[in-house]
Amino acid sequence: MAHQVNGVVAAGKGAPVQLVPILVPDPGPGEALIRVKACGVCHTDLHYREGAINDDFPFLLGHEASGTVESVGEGVTNVARGDFVIIAWRAPCGTCRSCLRGAPWYCFSSRNASQPMTLADGTPLSPALGIGAFAELTLVDAGQTVKVSPQASPAAAGLVGCGIMAGLGAAMNTGNVGRGDSVAVFGCGGVGNAAIAGARLAGAHTIIGVDLDNRKLTWAKEFGATHIINATSTDPVEAIRKLTGGNGVDVAIEAVGSPVTYEQAFYARDHAGTVVLVGVPSPDMKIELPLIEVFGRGGSLKSSWYGDCLPSRDFPVIIDLYLQGRLDLDRFVSESIGIGDVEEAFHKMDRGEVLRSVVIF
Ligand SMILES: NC(=O)c1ccc[n+]([C@@H]2O[C@H](COP(=O)([O-])OP(=O)(O)OC[C@H]3O[C@@H](n4cnc5c(N)ncnc54)[C@H](O)[C@@H]3O)[C@@H](O)[C@H]2O)c1
Ligand SMILES: [Zn+2]
Ligand SMILES: [Zn+2]
Repeated sequence: MAHQVNGVVAAGKGAPVQLVPILVPDPGPGEALIRVKACGVCHTDLHYREGAINDDFPFLLGHEASGTVESVGEGVTNVARGDFVIIAWRAPCGTCRSCLRGAPWYCFSSRNASQPMTLADGTPLSPALGIGAFAELTLVDAGQTVKVSPQASPAAAGLVGCGIMAGLGAAMNTGNVGRGDSVAVFGCGGVGNAAIAGARLAGAHTIIGVDLDNRKLTWAKEFGATHIINATSTDPVEAIRKLTGGNGVDVAIEAVGSPVTYEQAFYARDHAGTVVLVGVPSPDMKIELPLIEVFGRGGSLKSSWYGDCLPSRDFPVIIDLYLQGRLDLDRFVSESIGIGDVEEAFHKMDRGEVLRSVVIF
């Protein structure tokens, strides 16, 4: 039986999103039906509706979600009805060459529900990042659900499913930030501020937040930035060099997705330092760098997909840190909104008014 619920759908490139009836099937083998409790509005949802990810419209948006398991299909053993879970957009397949090589965070055959959710007329929906959680119910592969403590607030837990994990993991996993390191984070939105929080947890000594918006920079300080730079009035590369004895930072994290900030990150790092690109560029973006600089500066230029995380390993750890008071996830939740308010939340995101708007069901 299919369940009819309301979902937030992006019908075409750049068109405002709409709340429309959708059909969500009961779970088949290996699938789980989730009653969504909270889902954050991430910049990647906006990238989808702008057509910057791909052209597989209509999209069912929403991918930073927590909820309870409503029912599971045949053969599901990792979760059961009533469990409180975070939905992940990575569920390693276990059989691709990355998984077999022992690096499931690079899995390129991540599992998703095999049955489609559809519009009322049967048109299949493309769920954002294989999730689609701006809806009261969503269907995912059971491997995409990670059981965590129900003591966590649903809004905070949901954010772990994307932005928090991407940012924390960019610093802790991809950037391998260590005790005493210096770190710069370009873009202090939800992802960038999570990278700042991750750098602090990892023991970084100097953490420099760069943004164009003073509100974001104020939040960056609350998450652990020791210094902040507003790049509208100050050259961030020069300022970062000054703050690091003329050297640059050990790890420069780009959390915008723009050639401008990537180039700044490239030049703001120390000799043999690391650049981590966690911001998602659009397909038309290009960078031009003197190859001699790429060679001469050494170090590594890395991309971070989902903070190189393993959800089943990392989500419970993050929730533990939160429940112990060592990671203030509630601070990422700027406002609670209704399911009809996602379009307005995109505008608030563009105007820099929020870190995360979270749809509460
Ligand atoms: N790699 C991943 O797995 C992953 C996961 C989630 C999100 N993302 C991406 O991370 C990026 C950030 O996401 P978010 O939700 O934090 O977005 P956001 O809109 O909340 O934050 C972006 C921030 O960048 C700032 N900014 C824009 N231009 C800048 C510039 N020239 N210099 C300095 N700061 C600048 C903005 O003021 C804003 O604070 C997006 O591209 C998103 O798609 C990547
Ligand atoms: Zn795999
Ligand atoms: Zn996201």
